Amino acid sequence: TMSGASAAAIEKGNYRHFMQKEIFEQPTVVAQTLQSYIRPLEQTVALPQIDFDISAVNRVTVVACGTSYYAAMVAKYWFEQFARVPADIDYASEFRYREPVLEKGGLALFISQSGETADTLAALRHCKAEGQTIAVVVNVPTSSMAREADLLLPTHAGPEIGVASTKAFTCQLAVLAALAAHFAVRKGCLDPAEEADIVRHLLEAPACLNAALDHDDEIAAMAHLIAPARDVLYLGRGPDFPLALEGALKLKEISYIHAEGYASGEMKHGPIALIDESVPVIVLAPSGPLFEKTVSNMQEVRARGGKIVLISDAEGLAEAGEGCMATIEMPKVHPLIAPLVYAVPVQLLAYHTACVKGTDVDQPRNLAKSVTVE
Ligand code: G6P
Repeated sequence: TMSGASAAAIEKGNYRHFMQKEIFEQPTVVAQTLQSYIRPLEQTVALPQIDFDISAVNRVTVVACGTSYYAAMVAKYWFEQFARVPADIDYASEFRYREPVLEKGGLALFISQSGETADTLAALRHCKAEGQTIAVVVNVPTSSMAREADLLLPTHAGPEIGVASTKAFTCQLAVLAALAAHFAVRKGCLDPAEEADIVRHLLEAPACLNAALDHDDEIAAMAHLIAPARDVLYLGRGPDFPLALEGALKLKEISYIHAEGYASGEMKHGPIALIDESVPVIVLAPSGPLFEKTVSNMQEVRARGGKIVLISDAEGLAEAGEGCMATIEMPKVHPLIAPLVYAVPVQLLAYHTACVKGTDVDQPRNLAKSVTVE
């Protein structure tokens, strides 16, 4: 963890809170991070350490905690969808004690902002002892995890002071998107033209993050609708389902409002029983092949008097925005960068809701930046 003195040396500038500053830094730090994973002239993705034959990997085990775990969940969709590489994901605290079956020559990937989270570090050491190749996505380059890795995949988010992770998360997603694309190339799932296309989309991420940040004022106004709620539900599908979980986590962490993230299609198996006019339902749904299904889930919410906040692109809002309590328009983006872009409105919504409630945004009660106990 960062000492009080060095944390104080990092200025808040014109921002009210470190968390707010870190949310707004995302276009810059994601661009910085992508720089180490992309060769823009060749239009290829590349890992910083190339002396590792990733094409030999047949299964990835991904382990993390908290927000970093949601980055792992997104990565699972990408590894499987783009590279056809099966991925097992787990919370570090569960992974450690369940006697996981690890294949010989497997790759174990650990994701952590701090590189010091006790459960994640213990899981890493377990995998190392079992002969797995250890890859880490970490933000602190001097951390234990960075030192103990075979393959170090750094995020370049810079120091993150706010206890609730924001910019480290989107930088983790940037690295994981590049890793998924690299896997896909090495596994023969992407030809050079498709790789160049993905590189172009990844390079658009910073501009798309800026476009998402442009909705700050709107979201600040919307926070007044969320602040009085006792419960809030977040829904998403596919790679945006983990974003629903992350949205709910951010809101719990800093505004202390109870929130749950659910897979849109799973809502009817339980949480729909909670829906009435007092429960805001935040729907994360970029237009695309999964959109229609989510629209029917929204209709189920609406039929029970639920108030919907729809976060989608122009196409999605044109189709399903009517009758929502509020909408937030995101740019239309490639599925590999949608989770990065959709992170912004859920972060801002949690941030502004906490401000309305007057909670301590940067130091929420009972939480620590780096959890070094098990
Ligand atoms: C703590 C922090 C979270 C973070 C989690 C995992 O709970 O409050 O923001 O996501 O630890 O931390 P790591 O450093 O391993 O990413």
